[in-house]
Amino acid sequence: EKVLRTIPVVVHVVARTNAENISLAQIQSQIDVLNDDFRRLNTDRDGTWNQAADSEIEFCLATVDPNGNATGGVLRQSTTRTQFGRGNDNMKFTSTGGSDAWPAADYMNMWTCNIGEGTLGFAQFPGGPAATDGVVMDYRYFGTIGTAQAPFNLGRTATHEVGHYLNLRHIWGDGGCNRDDFVSDTPGSDGPNYGCATGVVKCNSVDMVQNYMDYSDDACMNLFTTGQKARMQAALTGARASLLN
Ligand code: ARG
Ligand code: ZN
Ligand code: CA
Repeated sequence: EKVLRTIPVVVHVVARTNAENISLAQIQSQIDVLNDDFRRLNTDRDGTWNQAADSEIEFCLATVDPNGNATGGVLRQSTTRTQFGRGNDNMKFTSTGGSDAWPAADYMNMWTCNIGEGTLGFAQFPGGPAATDGVVMDYRYFGTIGTAQAPFNLGRTATHEVGHYLNLRHIWGDGGCNRDDFVSDTPGSDGPNYGCATGVVKCNSVDMVQNYMDYSDDACMNLFTTGQKARMQAALTGARASLLN
């Protein structure tokens, strides 16, 4: 039978402008996408790949803060930063214009801010420093309403980043045909696919462009596989087990 595991989430909204200060409804739309995608309840699921799986992982906005008080699970932090740029964690620290992480052992920290420079989002894999642990999404690629911009307006940037957070690699393994994603039921590949490609053959097999861990447009991705589920579940019984206590 199903064994559902629910990850408590705190969302840090780091904003300079009113637009960046996204609404609670937009935040909830992102939580809803995570729940649909990770449970394979997304309405755009299809039968293209029979290894598609319900990961049995769910998400909820935190209801108790680190001090034991009631919370809505959303923190709003104003900033003077026009954009944070790629390749840094400044949005994760109050001292650098961001918002300090809640304890990473107990919460999945999600930040939304103006990253800019064309970066949709990024994530930290299990095993890294607690102070920077979590996922970051630009405010234009978060949720499905408000400031969300096509073709990344279906909340799949967070689905992808949370995949990394739960130890998934890109399906092409970030290398050539001999580099693996450590998942046996994703076809081998040697690079990302963009847009809405289909029938792309790389490394002698058809690429799984519909996988959340490729780089396709949001509307063109719709699955995690059974092998990816196993890897995420292993993270939740290993390095990230404390999230569930
Ligand atoms: N490029 C980003 C990363 O490697 C995210 C890609 C998200 N793709 C999407 N269709 N939203 O983490
Ligand atoms: Zn990625
Ligand atoms: Ca593989």
